[in-house]
Amino acid sequence: MSKNKIKRSPLFYVGDKYKLMAQISELFPKEINTFYEPFVGGGTVFLNIKANQYFLNDINAHLIKLHNTLISY
Ligand SMILES: C[S@@+](CC[C@H](N)C(=O)[O-])C[C@H]1O[C@@H](n2cnc3c(N)ncnc32)[C@H](O)[C@@H]1O
Repeated sequence: MSKNKIKRSPLFYVGDKYKLMAQISELFPKEINTFYEPFVGGGTVFLNIKANQYFLNDINAHLIKLHNTLISY
């Protein structure tokens, strides 16, 4: 994945994986049916991984509400 194609989360988040995404994306299979993200945080990883469906988890309930709102738009 070339750097200029990496989507950046609108949520600036400590531990965000934006700078590592070019490397991380190479480690994922090309075709993913269900993507499980146990620590979604700002969401940079799931925003840059193509899958048929996503399960996003985080211990921070407010963050999940925020993602649901963003997704609903
Ligand atoms: C560094 S962020 C994740 C970065 C993110 N995956 C990305 O795509 O850039 C780590 C997240 O893990 C969450 N977290 C920490 N401990 C957790 C736990 N025990 N269960 C679920 N989420 C947890 C934090 O609330 C935080 O949002």
